[in-house]
Amino acid sequence: MNTIYHVTKTFIAYLRRPDLYPELGRKIVKNIFKRNNAFKGKEKTNRWAAAKAVTQEKAISSLFGVNSLAFRHDFSAFLAQAEQKQEECPVKMGGAGALELIYYACEWTNAKAAIETGVAYGWSSLACLLSLEKRNGRLYSSDMPYLAQDGDRYVGCVVPDHLRSHWKLFRLADKESLPKIFSDYPEFDVIHYDSDKSYDGRIWAYDMLYTRLRKGGVFLSDDIGDNSAFQDFCEKLNIDPTVIEYEGKYIGAFIKG
Ligand SMILES: C[S@@+](CC[C@H](N)C(=O)[O-])C[C@H]1O[C@@H](n2cnc3c(N)ncnc32)[C@H](O)[C@@H]1O
Repeated sequence: MNTIYHVTKTFIAYLRRPDLYPELGRKIVKNIFKRNNAFKGKEKTNRWAAAKAVTQEKAISSLFGVNSLAFRHDFSAFLAQAEQKQEECPVKMGGAGALELIYYACEWTNAKAAIETGVAYGWSSLACLLSLEKRNGRLYSSDMPYLAQDGDRYVGCVVPDHLRSHWKLFRLADKESLPKIFSDYPEFDVIHYDSDKSYDGRIWAYDMLYTRLRKGGVFLSDDIGDNSAFQDFCEKLNIDPTVIEYEGKYIGAFIKG
């Protein structure tokens, strides 16, 4: 009963948003014909990731040469405020990930422009913006709203007002928002992928995002153990990525050579 209610509510919410019709069509096709796509190659990749995995601290040290992580200390007030905002939010979304990794990627590249897919409460956005703001940089984000929960207005709610002038949020599915973002800004210092977790969705976005990452820029992807898209993508391009184990999941990272 709950599932029928959720599906009906989502469907009606989609009907009210013509700009999301293309994604609705893709979701219907995915749910009917491609149900296993989300887990394609999962076992193979989990063996591969487990053999390569290091901690976030080790990864930040080997990739960016930072050995003492002051992030949580330096931004403790903002992080506490963000926790409070998350607690007060009536809509439940995905929580914070490896924020230090994102922050130090922006610091190490002296980032002026970063792009992320998947915002939810906005933890990864906050980590990027705390660095970008220092250089008057800009974050471009793509996020598909939580339609069933009327969650649109809460997307990014943990990002404080003073950082919002450095942020451009595109409230569309990646397939629509990424081309719009690229026509706004051509090349990025840091990429953080954390949206459509299907195999095909990842491969489509990885290919597109990689061409827009500058040489020496940092590519990060969350939840790479869901399927083998990240591993297959890296093998195709002869990239040997760093794999980070974080709270029981795997994150992929590499610097574009
Ligand atoms: C795990 S959450 C992101 C968490 C966020 N990066 C953070 O650190 O707080 C995933 C987000 O991706 C969005 N999403 C899922 N599929 C998407 C798509 N095809 N295009 C854009 N956003 C999508 C979801 O609505 C959700 O807000």
